[in-house]
Amino acid sequence: MEPYFADQGVTLYLGDMVEVLPQLGTFDLVVTDPPYGETSLGWDVYPTGWPQLLTTHTSSLWAFGSMRMFLDHWSDFAGWRLSQDVVWDKGRATSPATDRFRRAHEHVLHFYRGPWRDLYHQTPRTQVDKRGRHSPATTRHAGPTTQSEYGPSTWTETGTRLVESVLHAPKDRTRSINPTEKPVSVLELLISYACPPGGTVLDPFAGSGSTAVAARHTGRSAVLIEKREVQCETTARRLSQGVLDLGGSL
Ligand SMILES: C[S@@+](CC[C@H](N)C(=O)[O-])C[C@H]1O[C@@H](n2cnc3c(N)ncnc32)[C@H](O)[C@@H]1O
Repeated sequence: MEPYFADQGVTLYLGDMVEVLPQLGTFDLVVTDPPYGETSLGWDVYPTGWPQLLTTHTSSLWAFGSMRMFLDHWSDFAGWRLSQDVVWDKGRATSPATDRFRRAHEHVLHFYRGPWRDLYHQTPRTQVDKRGRHSPATTRHAGPTTQSEYGPSTWTETGTRLVESVLHAPKDRTRSINPTEKPVSVLELLISYACPPGGTVLDPFAGSGSTAVAARHTGRSAVLIEKREVQCETTARRLSQGVLDLGGSL
Protein backbone atom coordinates (compact mmCIF):
# COMPACT_ATOMS: atom_id res chain seq x y z
CA MET A 1 0.00 0.00 0.00
CA GLU A 2 1.47 3.30 -1.12
CA PRO A 3 1.44 6.06 1.53
CA TYR A 4 0.16 9.51 0.62
CA PHE A 5 3.06 11.01 2.58
CA ALA A 6 6.01 9.57 4.45
CA ASP A 7 9.06 10.96 6.17
CA GLN A 8 11.37 9.58 8.81
CA GLY A 9 8.81 9.58 11.60
CA VAL A 10 5.38 9.83 9.98
CA THR A 11 3.45 7.73 7.46
CA LEU A 12 0.08 8.96 6.20
CA TYR A 13 -2.41 6.80 4.29
CA LEU A 14 -5.30 8.26 2.30
CA GLY A 15 -8.35 6.03 2.62
CA ASP A 16 -11.13 4.66 4.78
CA MET A 17 -9.74 3.27 8.03
CA VAL A 18 -11.94 0.17 7.62
CA GLU A 19 -10.02 -0.72 4.45
CA VAL A 20 -6.55 0.53 5.41
CA LEU A 21 -6.35 -0.88 8.95
CA PRO A 22 -6.24 -4.60 8.01
CA GLN A 23 -3.09 -3.88 6.00
CA LEU A 24 -1.25 -2.44 9.00
CA GLY A 25 0.54 -4.12 11.93
CA THR A 26 0.47 -3.38 15.65
CA PHE A 27 1.05 -0.12 17.50
CA ASP A 28 2.11 0.94 21.00
CA LEU A 29 -0.85 3.30 21.22
CA VAL A 30 -3.84 4.65 19.30
CA VAL A 31 -4.75 8.30 19.89
CA THR A 32 -7.74 9.38 17.89
CA ASP A 33 -10.58 11.82 17.48
CA PRO A 34 -13.33 10.05 15.51
CA PRO A 35 -16.34 11.73 13.91
CA TYR A 36 -18.81 12.11 16.80
CA GLY A 37 -21.80 12.05 14.41
CA GLU A 38 -23.22 15.19 16.01
CA THR A 39 -23.07 17.80 13.23
CA SER A 40 -24.34 18.13 9.68
CA LEU A 41 -20.80 18.15 8.25
CA GLY A 42 -20.55 15.63 5.41
CA TRP A 43 -17.67 13.67 6.99
CA ASP A 44 -19.19 13.63 10.48
CA VAL A 45 -20.68 10.15 10.37
CA TYR A 46 -19.88 7.96 13.38
CA PRO A 47 -18.04 4.88 12.00
CA THR A 48 -19.86 2.06 13.81
CA GLY A 49 -17.55 -0.57 15.25
CA TRP A 50 -14.27 1.34 14.94
CA PRO A 51 -13.02 0.53 18.49
CA GLN A 52 -13.49 -3.19 17.77
CA LEU A 53 -11.40 -2.92 14.60
CA LEU A 54 -8.51 -1.64 16.70
CA THR A 55 -8.37 -4.58 19.10
CA THR A 56 -5.94 -6.56 16.93
CA HIS A 57 -3.70 -3.51 16.48
CA THR A 58 -3.16 -2.12 20.00
CA SER A 59 -3.81 -2.59 23.72
CA SER A 60 -3.94 1.11 24.55
CA LEU A 61 -6.39 3.69 23.20
CA TRP A 62 -7.05 7.37 23.90
CA ALA A 63 -10.31 8.45 22.26
CA PHE A 64 -11.70 11.98 22.09
CA GLY A 65 -15.48 12.27 22.15
CA SER A 66 -18.52 13.77 23.80
CA MET A 67 -20.15 11.87 26.66
CA ARG A 68 -23.17 11.46 24.39
CA MET A 69 -21.02 9.85 21.69
CA PHE A 70 -19.49 7.38 24.14
CA LEU A 71 -22.77 6.42 25.79
CA ASP A 72 -24.69 6.10 22.50
CA HIS A 73 -22.01 3.69 21.21
CA TRP A 74 -20.82 2.09 24.46
CA SER A 75 -21.24 -1.47 23.10
CA ASP A 76 -18.56 -0.65 20.50
CA PHE A 77 -16.09 -0.57 23.40
CA ALA A 78 -16.85 -4.13 24.56
CA GLY A 79 -13.58 -5.87 25.39
CA TRP A 80 -11.88 -2.58 26.29
CA ARG A 81 -11.47 -1.50 29.91
CA LEU A 82 -11.72 2.15 30.86
CA SER A 83 -8.73 3.38 32.84
CA GLN A 84 -9.60 7.07 33.19
CA ASP A 85 -11.20 10.13 31.66
CA VAL A 86 -9.51 13.43 30.99
CA VAL A 87 -11.19 16.71 30.08
CA TRP A 88 -9.87 19.20 27.56
CA ASP A 89 -11.01 22.67 28.67
CA LYS A 90 -11.15 24.71 25.45
CA GLY A 91 -11.34 28.04 27.23
CA ARG A 92 -14.40 29.13 25.27
CA ALA A 93 -17.50 27.43 23.98
CA THR A 94 -17.59 26.26 20.37
CA SER A 95 -20.86 24.32 20.22
CA PRO A 96 -23.46 25.87 17.86
CA ALA A 97 -26.45 24.22 19.66
CA THR A 98 -28.81 26.76 21.25
CA ASP A 99 -30.92 24.27 23.24
CA ARG A 100 -28.11 23.04 25.50
CA PHE A 101 -25.33 24.49 27.66
CA ARG A 102 -22.64 25.74 25.27
CA ARG A 103 -19.99 23.06 25.38
CA ALA A 104 -16.52 24.37 26.19
CA HIS A 105 -14.87 21.02 26.77
CA GLU A 106 -14.24 17.61 25.22
CA HIS A 107 -13.73 14.27 26.92
CA VAL A 108 -10.74 12.04 26.26
CA LEU A 109 -11.10 8.48 27.53
CA HIS A 110 -8.26 6.01 27.96
CA PHE A 111 -9.09 2.35 27.29
CA TYR A 112 -6.84 -0.67 27.55
CA ARG A 113 -6.83 -4.42 27.05
CA GLY A 114 -4.87 -7.07 28.92
CA PRO A 115 -3.10 -6.69 32.29
CA TRP A 116 -2.63 -3.08 33.40
CA ARG A 117 0.89 -3.86 34.66
CA ASP A 118 1.95 -4.84 31.12
CA LEU A 119 0.83 -1.53 29.72
CA TYR A 120 3.16 1.44 29.36
CA HIS A 121 1.79 4.32 31.48
CA GLN A 122 3.90 7.14 32.87
CA THR A 123 1.95 10.08 34.23
CA PRO A 124 3.60 13.34 33.11
CA ARG A 125 4.63 15.74 35.88
CA THR A 126 4.47 19.49 36.03
CA GLN A 127 6.66 21.92 37.98
CA VAL A 128 5.17 23.63 41.02
CA ASP A 129 6.28 27.10 41.96
CA LYS A 130 7.92 27.74 45.32
CA ARG A 131 4.67 28.80 47.05
CA GLY A 132 3.02 25.46 46.27
CA ARG A 133 5.88 23.35 47.62
CA HIS A 134 6.27 21.62 50.96
CA SER A 135 9.59 21.95 52.82
CA PRO A 136 12.43 20.97 50.56
CA ALA A 137 13.42 17.32 50.39
CA THR A 138 10.88 16.34 53.03
CA THR A 139 9.91 12.72 53.15
CA ARG A 140 6.34 12.51 54.40
CA HIS A 141 3.86 9.79 55.09
CA ALA A 142 1.31 10.15 52.36
CA GLY A 143 -1.64 9.21 54.56
CA PRO A 144 -3.92 6.22 54.70
CA THR A 145 -5.73 6.86 51.42
CA THR A 146 -2.63 6.30 49.35
CA GLN A 147 -1.25 3.34 51.32
CA SER A 148 -2.43 0.85 48.76
CA GLU A 149 -1.47 -0.59 45.42
CA TYR A 150 -1.93 2.91 44.00
CA GLY A 151 1.36 4.25 45.26
CA PRO A 152 4.10 4.33 47.88
CA SER A 153 3.23 5.20 51.48
CA THR A 154 5.78 8.02 51.62
CA TRP A 155 6.80 10.71 49.21
CA THR A 156 9.53 13.29 48.90
CA GLU A 157 9.02 16.87 47.72
CA THR A 158 10.47 16.95 44.22
CA GLY A 159 9.07 20.31 43.11
CA THR A 160 6.78 18.53 40.65
CA ARG A 161 3.23 17.18 40.71
CA LEU A 162 1.31 14.71 38.56
CA VAL A 163 -0.47 16.51 35.74
CA GLU A 164 -4.15 16.98 36.64
CA SER A 165 -7.02 15.50 34.63
CA VAL A 166 -8.43 18.81 33.37
CA LEU A 167 -6.15 20.12 30.64
CA HIS A 168 -6.55 23.80 29.81
CA ALA A 169 -5.64 24.66 26.23
CA PRO A 170 -7.54 27.54 24.63
CA LYS A 171 -8.69 26.83 21.10
CA ASP A 172 -6.71 29.14 18.86
CA ARG A 173 -9.15 30.34 16.20
CA THR A 174 -6.55 32.40 14.40
CA ARG A 175 -4.48 29.48 13.18
CA SER A 176 -6.86 26.53 13.33
CA ILE A 177 -6.44 24.34 10.24
CA ASN A 178 -9.43 22.09 10.91
CA PRO A 179 -12.59 23.15 12.81
CA THR A 180 -12.25 20.05 14.99
CA GLU A 181 -8.48 20.32 15.40
CA LYS A 182 -7.14 19.12 18.74
CA PRO A 183 -4.34 20.99 20.54
CA VAL A 184 -0.86 19.57 20.12
CA SER A 185 -0.09 20.37 23.78
CA VAL A 186 -2.91 18.07 24.97
CA LEU A 187 -1.93 15.33 22.51
CA GLU A 188 1.69 15.51 23.71
CA LEU A 189 0.58 14.66 27.26
CA LEU A 190 -1.65 11.78 26.11
CA ILE A 191 1.17 10.34 24.01
CA SER A 192 3.84 10.81 26.70
CA TYR A 193 1.59 9.00 29.17
CA ALA A 194 0.80 5.92 27.11
CA CYS A 195 3.43 5.43 24.40
CA PRO A 196 7.03 4.53 25.27
CA PRO A 197 9.75 6.86 23.98
CA GLY A 198 10.65 5.84 20.43
CA GLY A 199 7.33 3.95 20.07
CA THR A 200 4.67 4.35 17.39
CA VAL A 201 1.22 5.93 17.64
CA LEU A 202 -1.64 5.28 15.22
CA ASP A 203 -4.36 7.85 14.47
CA PRO A 204 -6.99 6.32 12.13
CA PHE A 205 -9.07 9.57 11.93
CA ALA A 206 -6.16 11.94 11.40
CA GLY A 207 -7.82 15.17 10.23
CA SER A 208 -5.07 17.80 9.98
CA GLY A 209 -2.38 15.55 11.48
CA SER A 210 -2.14 17.03 14.99
CA THR A 211 -1.34 13.60 16.46
CA ALA A 212 1.70 13.30 14.19
CA VAL A 213 2.96 16.75 15.18
CA ALA A 214 2.66 15.81 18.87
CA ALA A 215 4.33 12.44 18.24
CA ARG A 216 7.21 14.21 16.56
CA HIS A 217 7.59 16.69 19.44
CA THR A 218 7.72 13.85 21.97
CA GLY A 219 10.14 11.58 20.11
CA ARG A 220 7.58 9.02 18.89
CA SER A 221 6.65 7.94 15.36
CA ALA A 222 3.14 8.18 13.92
CA VAL A 223 1.01 6.37 11.37
CA LEU A 224 -2.08 8.26 10.17
CA ILE A 225 -5.18 7.33 8.17
CA GLU A 226 -7.47 9.99 6.74
CA LYS A 227 -10.18 9.49 4.15
CA ARG A 228 -10.43 13.05 2.80
CA GLU A 229 -7.70 14.01 0.38
CA VAL A 230 -8.00 17.70 1.23
CA GLN A 231 -7.04 16.85 4.83
CA CYS A 232 -4.16 14.66 3.67
CA GLU A 233 -2.85 17.57 1.59
CA THR A 234 -3.07 19.88 4.63
CA THR A 235 -1.30 17.35 6.83
CA ALA A 236 1.48 16.70 4.32
CA ARG A 237 2.06 20.46 4.04
CA ARG A 238 1.98 20.91 7.81
CA LEU A 239 4.48 18.11 8.39
CA SER A 240 6.77 19.23 5.56
CA GLN A 241 7.02 22.76 6.90
CA GLY A 242 9.53 21.58 9.46
CA VAL A 243 8.89 24.66 11.60
CA LEU A 244 8.02 24.46 15.26
CA ASP A 245 4.26 23.77 15.26
CA LEU A 246 3.16 24.49 18.79
CA GLY A 247 -0.53 24.11 17.98
CA GLY A 248 -1.69 25.64 21.28
CA SER A 249 0.02 25.51 24.62
CA LEU A 250 -1.02 24.51 28.11
C1 LIG B 1 -12.73 15.00 14.20
S1 LIG B 1 -11.76 14.96 12.78
C2 LIG B 1 -10.11 14.76 13.38
C3 LIG B 1 -9.42 16.08 13.64
C4 LIG B 1 -8.00 15.90 14.14
N1 LIG B 1 -7.96 15.42 15.50
C5 LIG B 1 -7.20 17.18 14.05
O1 LIG B 1 -6.63 17.63 15.08
O2 LIG B 1 -7.13 17.76 12.95
C6 LIG B 1 -12.13 13.36 12.17
C7 LIG B 1 -11.51 13.05 10.81
O3 LIG B 1 -11.80 11.67 10.49
C8 LIG B 1 -11.96 11.58 9.09
N2 LIG B 1 -12.72 10.35 8.83
C9 LIG B 1 -14.05 10.16 9.00
N3 LIG B 1 -14.38 8.88 8.73
C10 LIG B 1 -13.22 8.24 8.38
C11 LIG B 1 -12.91 6.90 8.00
N4 LIG B 1 -13.87 5.97 7.93
N5 LIG B 1 -11.63 6.59 7.74
C12 LIG B 1 -10.65 7.54 7.83
N6 LIG B 1 -10.88 8.84 8.16
C13 LIG B 1 -12.16 9.18 8.44
C14 LIG B 1 -12.68 12.85 8.70
O4 LIG B 1 -12.45 13.17 7.34
C15 LIG B 1 -12.05 13.88 9.68
O5 LIG B 1 -10.98 14.57 9.05
